[in-house]
Amino acid sequence: MTTPSLFDVIHSRRSIRQYKPDPVSNELIDKILEAGIHTSSSGNMQTYSIVVTRDRKLRETLYEPHMNQNMVLDAPVLLTFCADFHRMRRWTALNGAADSFDDFMGFMVAAIDATLVSQTVALAAESHGLGICYMGSTIANCDRVGEILKLPKNVVPVVGFSLGYPAENPAPRDRLPLSGLVHHETYREYSDDEIKEIYHQRETNGWKRYMSFEKLRKMIEDSGVTNLAQVYTQLKYTKEEHTVFSRQILDYLESQGFMN
Ligand SMILES: Cc1cc2nc3c(=O)[nH]c(=O)nc-3n(C[C@H](O)[C@H](O)[C@H](O)COP(=O)(O)O)c2cc1C
Repeated sequence: MTTPSLFDVIHSRRSIRQYKPDPVSNELIDKILEAGIHTSSSGNMQTYSIVVTRDRKLRETLYEPHMNQNMVLDAPVLLTFCADFHRMRRWTALNGAADSFDDFMGFMVAAIDATLVSQTVALAAESHGLGICYMGSTIANCDRVGEILKLPKNVVPVVGFSLGYPAENPAPRDRLPLSGLVHHETYREYSDDEIKEIYHQRETNGWKRYMSFEKLRKMIEDSGVTNLAQVYTQLKYTKEEHTVFSRQILDYLESQGFMN
């Protein structure tokens, strides 16, 4: 197989939610992870850990914290990228170095490292014909995911995705226009008309997409929401749920020793 160019991979990629049961070889996993660890990291400290989960029983345990998403059971592999200052702090302690990094800044540094690595691994996987789908449940339910994966103090799961060979071939999703996302030199506030223009196509495409899924269409019709913006804040990402997740994350950061 000839390897597609990086730009081809980036422009043709899309999240995959249906997987073939075919296993992914250890060699291929190592290859994409090796690519991942070439990602830049803060101070080259590489304050992340990657947990590779293949075991069916473990994936069944993770299914509920991952909000019953079918990818957890159907994809042969789950990758969980964790903010990890545990390893580094063990090393600094062994070297008589001053204690540090057990604070929110430490968490942010490690969470950024973990997130950046995850996207390099994702692109490496996609360039080898594999599919991935991130799961926001990794951070939303980080406490339960962390417990199942036996994470020690100063380790927090931040992002994760399913990995395997695609059993579907969805078209790439639309994006907001570049002009709506980029500011030159400094941030320029949007007028209402500009906001409407930026989201114009999304409002149509996104609504059509959600209405094309039987279960979602029923949910939308039953709830009485009438546009995509309302779907986002009244059905998909409600204030009530976000309040619960925010509290869970903050409590877990505290208990994992990141709030000193
Ligand atoms: C941090 C993050 C969390 C996500 N969580 C989920 C998820 O829980 N379930 C899901 O089906 N897709 C999830 N996605 C995938 C997004 O829905 C997807 O990337 C977006 O709709 C754009 O589609 P594309 O990846 O096919 O281009 C997540 C993506 C990111 C980056």
